[in-house]
Amino acid sequence: MPPAAEQGTGTPVIADGISAAVGRTPLVRLDRLFPHSGIEILAKLESVNPGGSTKDRPALAMVRDAIDRGRLAPGGTVVESSSGNLGVALARVCTAEGVRFVCVVDARTNATTVATIRALGGEIELVTEPDPETGDLLAARFRRVEEILERIPDAVNLYQYGNPANPRAHAEGTMREIAEATDHRLDVLMAAVSTTGTIAGCTAYLREHALDTGTIAVDAEGSVLFGGTAAPRPLPGLGAGVVTDISRTVDPDRVVRVRGIDCVVGARLLARREGILAGASTGGIIHALGTLMPELAPGARVVVIVHDGGVPYLETVYDDAWVEETLGVDADALAAATAALQASARRG
Ligand SMILES: Cc1ncc(COP(=O)(O)O)c(C=O)c1O
Repeated sequence: MPPAAEQGTGTPVIADGISAAVGRTPLVRLDRLFPHSGIEILAKLESVNPGGSTKDRPALAMVRDAIDRGRLAPGGTVVESSSGNLGVALARVCTAEGVRFVCVVDARTNATTVATIRALGGEIELVTEPDPETGDLLAARFRRVEEILERIPDAVNLYQYGNPANPRAHAEGTMREIAEATDHRLDVLMAAVSTTGTIAGCTAYLREHALDTGTIAVDAEGSVLFGGTAAPRPLPGLGAGVVTDISRTVDPDRVVRVRGIDCVVGARLLARREGILAGASTGGIIHALGTLMPELAPGARVVVIVHDGGVPYLETVYDDAWVEETLGVDADALAAATAALQASARRG
């Protein structure tokens, strides 16, 4: 056993229920990812939230906001369309608040996620057919939400794509914690985007506190956010097929688009170099960081957000056969792509 000091310092506290354990996630210096770069890289480990992702924060904030506004009460029902982390987070929050949760998913939702939502007491409504008008599965999920809202009169839809409590959770939580831990000194913040709640909330905090921090949104190729063009996206959690209401309120300093294979390369490098097993979107951020490295000023401090953990991605991102079959990249080409990223990250 290492001495206690090597296991981390600080006095542990007793959390009053699982919701009180959301947030206060570690900020970890990454020295081995791109060594000798002269850039200080810090990772905000949202993956250690109780639900395993950054979505614990907006889930809690949106449910509490609905309760505070009298839209929702114990015994009431939340209906939400989610294919992943928000569904898991809401299942837990709703159980903790004594609220029924109906999660509308489609066939793309992975089996572990569905099982986790059920295990936490959530109910699953599976959409199997695309919307007849648009041919889109997301549109079909929205339609199903509307049907359920009509069927269950007191049910509420939290609508994560436009709910102000979503970005607020990141302004008051994620970004405040980062700013306080870094003494308000950070040069670049990198976040992946889906609803854009994370980047919008973090940007709002930075502007409100007049911090001169550049914001970089990492989006998927094929996402329509920030002027992107729609195309199939092989990995969940990153990008969006619709322009979200929140995204119209935020203007990141830079948008970097990554491919599925970039997410794989970045995630695997982070796991092998730093021992941090993260999901696809975090891999995309790491890849984007590697390619931007030569442009950063010497001594710059960069904070990257680790949006979720890698266990749900063991059969995709971390599986060579899946990568070859789905992304058309074999093990040799993957090794070459990893070497290329490391080379591009080498400065001067
Ligand atoms: C895996 C993953 N990546 C990225 C994000 C960022 O998404 P959003 O723009 O909705 O905050 C999330 C959301 O929490 C996520 O779960």
